[in-house]
Amino acid sequence: MTYSNLTIEQRDAVIQITVQRPDKLNALNLDTLIELGDAVEDATSDDSLRALIITGAGEKAFVAGADIAEINALNPLQARDFSELGQQLMRQIENCGKPVIAAVNGFALGGGMELALACHIRIASDNARLGLPEITLGLLPGFGGTQRLLRMLGRSRAMQLILSGQPIDAATAEHWGLLAHVYSTQELSDQAWTLAHKLAASAPIAMRSIIEAVQNGQDMSLEAALNMETQLFALCCSSEDMREGTSAFLNKRKPKFNGS
Ligand code: COA
Repeated sequence: MTYSNLTIEQRDAVIQITVQRPDKLNALNLDTLIELGDAVEDATSDDSLRALIITGAGEKAFVAGADIAEINALNPLQARDFSELGQQLMRQIENCGKPVIAAVNGFALGGGMELALACHIRIASDNARLGLPEITLGLLPGFGGTQRLLRMLGRSRAMQLILSGQPIDAATAEHWGLLAHVYSTQELSDQAWTLAHKLAASAPIAMRSIIEAVQNGQDMSLEAALNMETQLFALCCSSEDMREGTSAFLNKRKPKFNGS
């Protein structure tokens, strides 16, 4: 499929989705949100794909937020639809069953930070700045930012970021645990592909189970979450890939997972 506001690049079992509105610092307008939803859906249903990267065009911005020009013209009902559409996209990414890496190459503000928060792993370039500046626009984050940030950072730091609207630099975001790693701007893309290929070589059923356990466990009681983990462990033990992985270890060879 071709898109107006995205480019798609595939290398083996990895797909990279790049938001392509560099003149607007890759701000998410309605069309881009819809296209991202379509691209993630396609990647989810394609069994040959095992990992995704999401990034932004250019070196200045990952995504500088939802498109403020479009927000400016929304009435309350349209605003509700817009927020729901953004939230749906973030849920779709979280629940796609394949690892999604955000390669944060510059500003990740507002909806851009919310997009990064919905990805399973975030790595960034050293010029990245992350923040939720909606308060400066008379708004609050509407694509899940208040809830995901609370869960990731705890109440104090989440409140600080959201109430002040002030972005943090990459080093602080790494220190706070929002970023798994920070690279130079030159290195980021290669590092994202390398990590994605590494993840793509893992057993897909186990990968999907891990994402489900971590993703869904957070909002469950510990007892229910541990029970879920047991069921997923048993599911993995019924897979050919588990036999392959354990046999490969015992026979001192590299495993080759086929996804069944
Ligand atoms: N929505 C719409 N357009 C945006 C945008 C957004 N979220 N972020 C940047 N742009 C546009 C600018 O309007 C400008 O367009 P123009 O050249 O047609 O005037 C272009 O992208 C370049 O941005 P500019 O502000 O000139 O770059 P800068 O380097 O001076 O500043 C930022 C960069 C990121 C600090 C600044 O663009 C900014 O604050 N953006 C908004 C961030 C935000 O509030 N996001 C949350 C939205 S809910």
